[in-house]
Amino acid sequence: MSNYSQKIFYVILGIFCISFGINAQKLITIPIETSQNALVFQTDKDNRLGTVFFGKKLVQSSDYGFISKEYKINDENSGIFNSVYTPSGTWNLVEPAIEVKHADGNSSLELKYVSHEVKKIDDNVSETVIVLKDPVYALEVRLFYKVYYKENVIEQWSVIKHQEAKNITLQKYASANLYFMADDYYLNHYHGGWAKEMKPEETKLTAGIKTLDSKLGTRANLFQPPTFMLSFDKPATEDAGKVLLGTLAWSGNFKIDFELDTYHNLRLLAGINSHASEYSLASNQDFKTPSFIFTFSENGKGEASRNMHNWARKYRILDGEGSRLTLLNNWEATYFDFDEAKLTELFKDGKKLGVDMFLLDDGWFANKYPRNGDVAGLGDWQENRKKLPNGIGYLVKEATKAGIKFGIWVEPEMVNPKSELYEKHLDWVIREPQRPEHYFRNQLPLDLSNPEVQDFVYGVIDNLFTKNPEISFIKWDCNAVVYNAHSAYLEKKGLPQTHLYVEYVRGLYKVLEKIRAKYPKVPMMLCSGGGGRVDYEALKYFTEFWVSDNTDPLERVFMQWEYSYFYPAIAQCNHITDWSKVGIKYRTDVAMMGKMGYDIVVSHLSEKELQFSQQALANYKKISDVVWHGDLYRLKNPWENPYASLMFSNATQDHAVMFSYLTTNRYDGVYSVTPVKLKGLDPKKKYKIQEINVYPDAKSSIAKDLVYSGDYLMNIGLNPDITLRRTSVVLELTEVK
Ligand code: DGJ
Repeated sequence: MSNYSQKIFYVILGIFCISFGINAQKLITIPIETSQNALVFQTDKDNRLGTVFFGKKLVQSSDYGFISKEYKINDENSGIFNSVYTPSGTWNLVEPAIEVKHADGNSSLELKYVSHEVKKIDDNVSETVIVLKDPVYALEVRLFYKVYYKENVIEQWSVIKHQEAKNITLQKYASANLYFMADDYYLNHYHGGWAKEMKPEETKLTAGIKTLDSKLGTRANLFQPPTFMLSFDKPATEDAGKVLLGTLAWSGNFKIDFELDTYHNLRLLAGINSHASEYSLASNQDFKTPSFIFTFSENGKGEASRNMHNWARKYRILDGEGSRLTLLNNWEATYFDFDEAKLTELFKDGKKLGVDMFLLDDGWFANKYPRNGDVAGLGDWQENRKKLPNGIGYLVKEATKAGIKFGIWVEPEMVNPKSELYEKHLDWVIREPQRPEHYFRNQLPLDLSNPEVQDFVYGVIDNLFTKNPEISFIKWDCNAVVYNAHSAYLEKKGLPQTHLYVEYVRGLYKVLEKIRAKYPKVPMMLCSGGGGRVDYEALKYFTEFWVSDNTDPLERVFMQWEYSYFYPAIAQCNHITDWSKVGIKYRTDVAMMGKMGYDIVVSHLSEKELQFSQQALANYKKISDVVWHGDLYRLKNPWENPYASLMFSNATQDHAVMFSYLTTNRYDGVYSVTPVKLKGLDPKKKYKIQEINVYPDAKSSIAKDLVYSGDYLMNIGLNPDITLRRTSVVLELTEVK
């Protein structure tokens, strides 16, 4: 064909396409698949990228390309409802993922698909990066989707960058913007407060926006954590229904919006809370958002949570597949009232009990304003000479002599106004100089946006380890929220005060990063006056977290149950304390479903209580591998039954443990009437069942040497024989060959 006839051919083809409505442009389809699920994006005729599918993956991935044609949504504007990263200031009328003010003061933004690539990280992990650009302003957003294939987990975040002449202002910058299509949506979210963590609530989403958020700054999850379960069509149960488990990996203010649009589709936007947090971004600087992490299952909450656990242990929690130390903590045993002699006795008590480590809590430091209560001393990290004249080094030696490891409590981000640190470095404190100070537990947070403060906080830990390399454990506490959010450092640097909430958290991560570079392995407990700061970014640096100061075992059954949807047992610190007067057996059995520890006065235990506890610790050593690394199955929900039952089963299904706890004392429900069907066993295997943690002199009502097949146990079940006299029961299942 000559050039001339070629041109004529294409002109005719063009006319043909236009007249017959054929869109010559090829739509780009981007499937992001895990072993079971798919998240699929597609460009539209204007090259905007939208979500066209989320759910169980199709057998043939080429079919994803057809999905969008099945939706007959006519409203012009709705074309942007499913945007993968909804811009604002142009034609969008719904909640945006990003809002910016350009260098010239203009607030309009449009994002068009430019390219994408898939990087294979290893056999299980891959990363899809999508580039979107504004056709008018030099601004680009890169969307990252990291896929953990086997675990069915997707971790997503975004990076915003521009090349405008001056700084732009980011007014909103979400991590994730997802779109779901289902008959209905049920949101299971959480609320609480000190000693009341993880109170669940399930609600059917109605038109409009439901928001989960935090504006507390430091212990951001105190009232509400960034974790939720979202069921599609109808509320998912433990083993049935479509459910997404999601969480934001960020230890600061967050905002998660669920917007039900006019088509009854659900828009999800998750990220840092933009409240008081406009960010001024220099040209060519990357703004990386935190990760939004989610998993999806068509088989209920149980499978979804096991996905999350598998991922967290393998890829996120520090030493998630390792082991943990049992411990004796002195907080509730002594509070601030101790000295060397008392502590030395406690080391011996810990050894007698049989724990691996002694954990010295709050009150060991400060001299000018001694830390004898929570009103003074925080910030002055020198040993209190009166209580500890020979310093921490002496304690470490004494503990070693007693045959027990030594761990220590710190709260390095905080300061009491009654402290030398406050007197010397007022400019390091988050406070509004023109206004009266407000305290939360008599203290204020230090300004971690300031590199000098970062060095100070790092120094608290580094000094402890440098002087006492044998320290085996750190409990890192954080008890105050941010009031009067003002930073003297940002002011001095001429930076906007609205950077504070973001830079505080980034500063914290810098410190933790540095600590882990030098001390990669030392176990650290993440504590925030209980569970006020638990998230999957912090858990990169911590081996475990303190669930709650509330250690009443009955409360704990519920609390630990709820946390267990998101975090594996190996990360949950459960201590046996004297908070409640319930018998030691119940307290111990409840603590065993996670990482067990004690916070009691051992010398106050009766002979039988001590004997029981020693035996329980020996039992824990035998079953901890299953609890820490096994699969969790929830069998009887305490919100729906008079007792809770759950079990852990190891990967080879030859060892399992079942825990059951009575949760009522009402006449109507004081015993387990029917058998509880077990899960996660091999139907073909035979299991010997043995009750453990039997109280001295008590007789187990479970016949010794019972052997059942997995098939029987999963289809008929086993009655743990929960009664008012047997309020908690632990059964160990071992394969017999
Ligand atoms: C709050 C923690 O949650 C407690 O366990 C204890 O460490 C106190 N702080 C000490 O002040």
